[in-house]
Amino acid sequence: MANSRQLFIAVQRHLHALKHGYQAHPAIWSDFHLRARSWKVLLEACLGLGRPLTIVETGTACDNGSTWLFHLLTRSTGGVVHTIDINEDLCGFVSEVASKVGAGEEIVVHCGDSPSVLRTFRDPIDVLYLDSYDVDWTNPSGSMEHHLQELKAAWPLLARRSIVAFDDTPSGGAFAPWWCSPAERAAISQPDPPGKGPLAIKHLRQLPGRVTQLIHEYQAVFMVEK
Ligand SMILES: C[S@@+](CC[C@H](N)C(=O)[O-])C[C@H]1O[C@@H](n2cnc3c(N)ncnc32)[C@H](O)[C@@H]1O
Repeated sequence: MANSRQLFIAVQRHLHALKHGYQAHPAIWSDFHLRARSWKVLLEACLGLGRPLTIVETGTACDNGSTWLFHLLTRSTGGVVHTIDINEDLCGFVSEVASKVGAGEEIVVHCGDSPSVLRTFRDPIDVLYLDSYDVDWTNPSGSMEHHLQELKAAWPLLARRSIVAFDDTPSGGAFAPWWCSPAERAAISQPDPPGKGPLAIKHLRQLPGRVTQLIHEYQAVFMVEK
C-alpha cells in the first residue's frame, strides 16, 4: 500500500500532467492550486480508512480528473470507483479510456441522473465525492438542492466510518476561483457562500452520528461516523 508521501507525489504528477494538458496556462494552474491541499487531505483520509475502498463520485472526470485520482488511490488500497454522470458522451469516453488502460473493472461508469442512480446502489460506500450539477454562483439553488438530494440518496449506504467530500464549495472569498466575475466573487464572499455543498452539509450535520470537518477551502471534506 502506498504511504501518504507516495500518494502526494502521485497527486502532484497528476496535476502536472493536467496542467500540460491544458497548455500550462498559469491561470488554470492556479485553479488546480485551489484544490491542491484539500485533495491531499481527502486522499490521505481515504488511505487512513485502511481497507479496500468503494468510492462513489457524482460528476465524471472532465476537468479536474477526479475519477483518475480516485483510481490511482484504489490501485493502492484495492476497491472500485463508481462514477456517475448524466452526459452519455462523457460516460462513453471515460468507459473507453478505462478499458484501454486496463481499468475497466476498477472504474464502473453509470450514466444517468445521479440521485436516481444512487438509489439503485446496494453496497456500502466508503468514500462519497459529490461534484455533479455545476453551480451558478449568483443563482445556486438548483445545484445546492441537487447535491442535497444526492446526499440523501447515498446516506443509507454510507459505511460506519466514511469520507464525504464536496467540490465547488468555497468557504469564503479567499477561495473564489480566478475566473469569477465581480458579481460571482461578491456572492462567494458573503458570510454563507453558495456552492454545491452548503445545503447537503447542513443536512449531514443534523443526521445521527459524528461529522468531523477535515478541511474546508474550495472543497469541503468530512469524516462521517455513524
Ligand atoms: C464539474 S463536472 C465533474 C468534474 C469531475 N468530477 C472532475 O473532477 O473532472 C460536473 C459533471 O456533472 C454532470 N452532471 C450534471 N448534472 C448531472 C446530474 N443530474 N446527474 C449526474 N451528473 C450530472 C455533468 O455532465 C458534468 O460532467
